Amino acid sequence: MNKNLTMEDRLSAWLSAGFRAAFPESPETAAGVAVAPTPQEAFGDYQCNAAMGLARALRKRPADIARAALAAAAPNPEVARAEPAGPGFINITLDDEHLARAAMELGDDPRLGTPRVGEGRTIILDYSSPNVAKPMHIGHIRSTVIGNALDRLHRFLGYRVIADNHLGDWGTQFGILILGFRHFADAAAYETSPIEELERIYVRSYERTKSDPDWLAAARAELVKLQRGDEENRALWRSFVEHSLREFDRIYARLGVRFDLTRGESWYNDRLPELARRLMERGLARESDGALCVFSDDALPRAEDPLWKQEDGEWKPAPCIVRKSDGGFNYAATDLATIESREEEFAPEAIIYVTDERQQLHFRQVFHIARRLGARARLIHVWFGLMRLPEGAFSTRQGNVIKLERLLDEAEARALAIVRETSPEMPPEQQREVARAVGIGAVKYADLSQNPQSLVTFTWDKALALEGNSAPYLQYACARIASVRDKYAALFPGRRPEDWPLRFAEPVERRLALQLLRFPDAVRRAAQQCRPNVLADYLYETAQIYSRFYQTAPFLKAEEGLRESRIRLCGIVRRALRQGLDLLGIETPDRI
Ligand code: ARG
Repeated sequence: MNKNLTMEDRLSAWLSAGFRAAFPESPETAAGVAVAPTPQEAFGDYQCNAAMGLARALRKRPADIARAALAAAAPNPEVARAEPAGPGFINITLDDEHLARAAMELGDDPRLGTPRVGEGRTIILDYSSPNVAKPMHIGHIRSTVIGNALDRLHRFLGYRVIADNHLGDWGTQFGILILGFRHFADAAAYETSPIEELERIYVRSYERTKSDPDWLAAARAELVKLQRGDEENRALWRSFVEHSLREFDRIYARLGVRFDLTRGESWYNDRLPELARRLMERGLARESDGALCVFSDDALPRAEDPLWKQEDGEWKPAPCIVRKSDGGFNYAATDLATIESREEEFAPEAIIYVTDERQQLHFRQVFHIARRLGARARLIHVWFGLMRLPEGAFSTRQGNVIKLERLLDEAEARALAIVRETSPEMPPEQQREVARAVGIGAVKYADLSQNPQSLVTFTWDKALALEGNSAPYLQYACARIASVRDKYAALFPGRRPEDWPLRFAEPVERRLALQLLRFPDAVRRAAQQCRPNVLADYLYETAQIYSRFYQTAPFLKAEEGLRESRIRLCGIVRRALRQGLDLLGIETPDRI
């Protein structure tokens, strides 16, 4: 068996050969066909619906195409039955013995059969990326949790991942901030909660720019000094960055998040004039009212062109401003320079950005212009909707860092209450440690288990439920399996269940083994679609099937051999759940 192929890959390769043999002259079948788990158990184990998509090109009925492909496919010992069904599906049922063997091999593999599809490939993940001197808002938190899961998933698949925290550390707000800081900073407050203090200063100084033209002029002068490299202003700016980072780092430590790079926008500052020059030279940008703008080159239909917009039924240019009339460069300019710098340094095949939905237009424009400038990497914007949080947690100032920490504190406190109930005999120190893993895990999982693009409301009851699609439910399942294995070890010391083969006495055992074969496919799909919820769904389904198994099949009281098979199966399930949760950034304590 080829270690680099999952069961899905093997079935797909086998059926693809059948399609090609049946229709050798057709270019449509050359690319191969996909196979996926069946939506319903009654249909078998895997399904292929490629015949439907080929009907038009091949000028044949889908059901006939499916029949012909099956007739032309080579005999496959892993497959017990493969038959055409419905309007043109092919339903596949695996052979029990081969299924058991594949599940055992997967269980013996430290990577649970996950191919290293990313070997030799580099991607850059741009996530979290909060703004200096401003509180992290809920969008940054979601970006951190989702981005980190994508980071872990890709690394596990063998990719070289460069996680870059692209801090917003440059821009016009710093003139206002520096001036304000000189006049009304409270040193003590700046020490204890720098971000709150900086925000207070910013708001006050900004208000004054509106009524006091001299103040505004002074703020602009501070910015120019900063940008020219004035020592004093540089030092202040550096202090803002350092204080903010220290506060952000506290959050990252609690969430178990680490970056390879923390380069802010300022890192790319020196490249901006050159970028502007090139945009003009290539005829991509031109001056308009003193600003440097990129307009559409009319290469695209308007509806697909991010440099056009429709307003009141009329099409209008929506230029991307690269440099403002006062000479300051915009967010888009930095992002374009960042792409160039990243390509020169790392030659990534893809750059993935994780932000909230409000930046969709920005990235469509930046990607569009970057491609015209010759960017080679695939540029992907993973956006998510905003999550509603419990009343109170974020009420006054949305997403305040301090309040986020309070949200995490509350999660741990609530989890502690649960742990005290489920494990009253556990030493208090361990209870707290478990509560930390459960509380943080619950908050993360509530985010990761949703389709990123749907609007979700966070509730404590759902996040911390011991039943239902939650982190504690999955963590609890892992802990329960661990205790089954402990009991087995106590009753049968020195015996290795792995020395016995897997066998299926009950249908649920077979179903569980089949589910395990799907682990690598779920991991790969979650990474490829940039949707951690694909893996979360898989884990939840696995835990539910395990729970059925646990309720219907006796483990320790089963006869010798069957008992070992069941304990062995339990062990693989536990590893799949733990590995899967780890890929979502969620810990699994041995006991709960
Ligand atoms: N700092 C930005 C914000 O808070 C997010 C940056 C996302 N990354 C990027 N390369 N633009 O909105």
